[in-house]
Amino acid sequence: MTALRIVEAGPAEAAVLSALYESAFGEAWAPDQLAQLLAGPGVFALIALDDAGEPVGYALGRVAAGEGELLSIALLPDRRRRGGGRLLLDALMERCTAAGAAMLFLEVATDNMAALGLYRGAGFHEAGLRKGYYHKVGAAAVDAIVMRRALGDVG
Ligand SMILES: CC(C)(COP(=O)(O)OP(=O)(O)OC[C@H]1O[C@@H](n2cnc3c(N)ncnc32)[C@H](O)[C@@H]1OP(=O)(O)O)[C@@H](O)C(=O)NCCC(=O)NCCS
Repeated sequence: MTALRIVEAGPAEAAVLSALYESAFGEAWAPDQLAQLLAGPGVFALIALDDAGEPVGYALGRVAAGEGELLSIALLPDRRRRGGGRLLLDALMERCTAAGAAMLFLEVATDNMAALGLYRGAGFHEAGLRKGYYHKVGAAAVDAIVMRRALGDVG
C-alpha cells in the first residue's frame, strides 16, 4: 500500500471528519456536532493522509480517568484492507497510552466482521454484550460486543 501519515486533528477539522464519516458509513454526522464532541474533555481525533495529502480515514478517541475509548474508526471504502485501519488503531492506542490510559474499550456490532477482525488482530478481547445497542431506520436492532485491551504493550 502507499504510505499513510497520521496527524492529530481538532474541532477545526470537523468538516473533514464529517465528510469521511459520511463516505464510510453512508449517513451524516454534522460538523457542528463533531466539533462539539472534539472540544470535550479528553477527546481527540486522528486523520490518515495518503501520500498526496488527501484524508482517507480517521479514528476518534477519548481518555478519562485512566481509561481510553475508541469512539469511531473508518477508512474510505476504496482504501480498506491495506493496513490503514490497523495503522490508525495502533496510533490511537499510543495516543491513549500517552494520555495516561491503561485500558482501552470499544463497542462493535456483532455483524461487523471487518471491525471484529481488526480488533481481535490487535489484541482486543470480548468483555461484554449490549443487547439491541445499534439502531438503524428500517432494520432490526443489532447487539454490540464490548471489547477491551490493556495498553502499554503497543508496537
Ligand atoms: C473496520 C475498518 C476500519 C478496517 O479498516 P482496514 O483499513 O480495512 O483494515 P486493515 O487493512 O488494517 O485490516 C486489519 C485487519 O482487520 C481485519 N479485516 C479488515 N477488513 C476485513 C474484512 N473485510 N473482513 C474480515 N476481516 C477484515 C483483518 O484481520 C485485517 O488483517 P489482514 O488484512 O492481515 O487479514 C474498515 O473496514 C472500515 O472503515 N469499515 C467501515 C467503518 C466501520 O465499520 N468502523 C468500525 C466501527 S466504528
